[in-house]
Amino acid sequence: MSNSSMSSLHLLLVYTSLVIPSSCYSQRPSSPSDHVAMFIFGDSLFDAGNNNYLKSAIGRADFWPYGETFFNHPSGRFSDGRIIPDFIAEYLNLPLIPPYLQPGNHRYLAGVNFASAGAGALAETHKGFVIDLKTQLSYFRKVKQQLREERGDTETTTFLSKAIYLFSIGSNDYVERFSTNFSAFHSSSKKDYVGMVVGNLTAVVKEIYKNGGRRFGFLNVEPMGCSPYARAALQNSTCGCVDELTVLAKLHNRALTKALEALMGQLKGFKYSNFDFHASLSERINNPSKYGISPSRLLLDHALKSFPMILIIG
Ligand SMILES: *[C@@H]1O[C@H](CO)[C@@H](O)[C@H](O)[C@H]1NC(C)=O
Ligand SMILES: *[C@@H]1O[C@H](CO)[C@@H](O)[C@H](O)[C@H]1NC(C)=O
Ligand SMILES: *[C@@H]1O[C@H](CO)[C@@H](O)[C@H](O)[C@H]1NC(C)=O
Repeated sequence: MSNSSMSSLHLLLVYTSLVIPSSCYSQRPSSPSDHVAMFIFGDSLFDAGNNNYLKSAIGRADFWPYGETFFNHPSGRFSDGRIIPDFIAEYLNLPLIPPYLQPGNHRYLAGVNFASAGAGALAETHKGFVIDLKTQLSYFRKVKQQLREERGDTETTTFLSKAIYLFSIGSNDYVERFSTNFSAFHSSSKKDYVGMVVGNLTAVVKEIYKNGGRRFGFLNVEPMGCSPYARAALQNSTCGCVDELTVLAKLHNRALTKALEALMGQLKGFKYSNFDFHASLSERINNPSKYGISPSRLLLDHALKSFPMILIIG
């Protein structure tokens, strides 16, 4: 499962890099229809600094040691270095994709990043402290409008249909609900809640499709119950992961797989890749040394870096 999903994300990358010759962007950046752009939606895994510009952000990665290994300063990313979309941009010969809220005159030639740490697919999740997925979609519509005014309809349609739309969303919907109202998951069916989260995500995907998007990439949700925050704050026992969140992650990932297969049948020309981030991260949590992560470093990192993430895990 993990391998086949990983290779399908890889395939998406190979495929897209075949579509743009590697020198294309740097030589002819002036026409947006010439190259593939990326539009990025989601939570802290993908946030490249939008929360720095939110007045009451639930969390910001704007202090040391964030950014220490690559940017040498905190870049707003919840990482010591780059985040997944940065690596994909590099494979595509694109520059780093800027956060939408970053001041300046955006031309969106390489796309733009709408992701916001703490965000969920549901508008209620961390309401008022994040850019929720629907608001991210409304920003995308504004970008489209600007492109149409600048470039005309035909060029914009081509540009948007070639672009890649990346998503990492969902875990905050579960963790926030679980940490604020534990009893809610006993009284209402877990499956109904998962259906709502995945339903809100697919509604946004369909809207982007209607607006011309065809090529999508998703991360499924990580083993949320094993995050340092969940293990430290959301359970009464002193070891292991939070079982309830483990169950929700599995339900979500199964529902997401099904929903994407259904969209494939419904939407002509819809292409996607669903990366099994859950398996990939579980493997790294279980075998850190295999990936060059020493347990002591891991502990130090968690102590330092999970601090501002107390309320955010995704
Ligand atoms: C928690 O959820 C239950 C069930 O949905 C609801 O009855 C209760 O009012 C909620 N409590 C709070 C504090 O929101
Ligand atoms: C989206 O979530 C809201 C609750 O935030 C829910 O009422 C609505 O039914 C959901 N939409 C879909 C399509 O699942
Ligand atoms: C932890 O224990 C308290 C008190 O027994 C209980 O109210 C709460 O629901 C428990 N929390 C979890 C996550 O099990």
